[in-house]
Amino acid sequence: MSWRADVLTIFPSMFPGPLGESLAGKAMEAGSWSLKVTDIRDFGLGRHRSVDDTPFGGGAGMVMRPDVLDAAIGSVADATLGSVADKRPLIVLTPRGAPLTQKRVRELAEGPGVILLCGRFEGIDQRVIDARQAEEVSIGDYILSGGEIAALVLLDAAIRLLPGVMGAAISAVEESFSAPLLEYPHYTRPAVWAERAVPETLTSGNHAAIAAWRLAAARQTTKTRRPDLYNQYIASGAPAP
Ligand code: ADE
Repeated sequence: MSWRADVLTIFPSMFPGPLGESLAGKAMEAGSWSLKVTDIRDFGLGRHRSVDDTPFGGGAGMVMRPDVLDAAIGSVADATLGSVADKRPLIVLTPRGAPLTQKRVRELAEGPGVILLCGRFEGIDQRVIDARQAEEVSIGDYILSGGEIAALVLLDAAIRLLPGVMGAAISAVEESFSAPLLEYPHYTRPAVWAERAVPETLTSGNHAAIAAWRLAAARQTTKTRRPDLYNQYIASGAPAP
């Protein structure tokens, strides 16, 4: 069975959005993955199909109700219970979450799929997160207006790793000796553009020299921009430059 993504949101029209195009779109057409979007408001309460309420303890903004969210989650996660249990992790996109890493993305891509809950307003009642044993994930230290774009980011990162979606190109680059360094800079024709020449080594045809140049460039960029990654790289036993 192919990789399955369920998304729970109050803005269903935001999906598949960019995932309907390009690589992810083609992979969806080819059946490598599927997407089902559920409108949380379908489980809303009262005439206004309300999904949120004011926070206990006071403060600004609104909080998404646990009963409404649980009903929405149950409509997708429990649907397969009794036959084959739904083994997909439930992930809540929130700036309070643990940072998303390539390692976690790889694990998710290797599994059966994901159920993504997109938060809006000030937050989500913690009890439904705890009761459903949801994993809280953040895509970075900045605040989006909701979890929808974060969900798109997570899905995009996972889909490109699905078997057959990008072919051999990925593992060759990603699992290369240079991980976890940032990538070296890229150049193509023309060899001279706007009075700027491509680094000489890259046009030399000397493959060993090219590999050495790229590794040195990757190290230098990483050292400057991401000292955290660089220290990890050195600590992992990489040969000193
Ligand atoms: N929702 C709002 N900001 C977010 C972030 N940085 N990551 C995940 N979900 C979010």
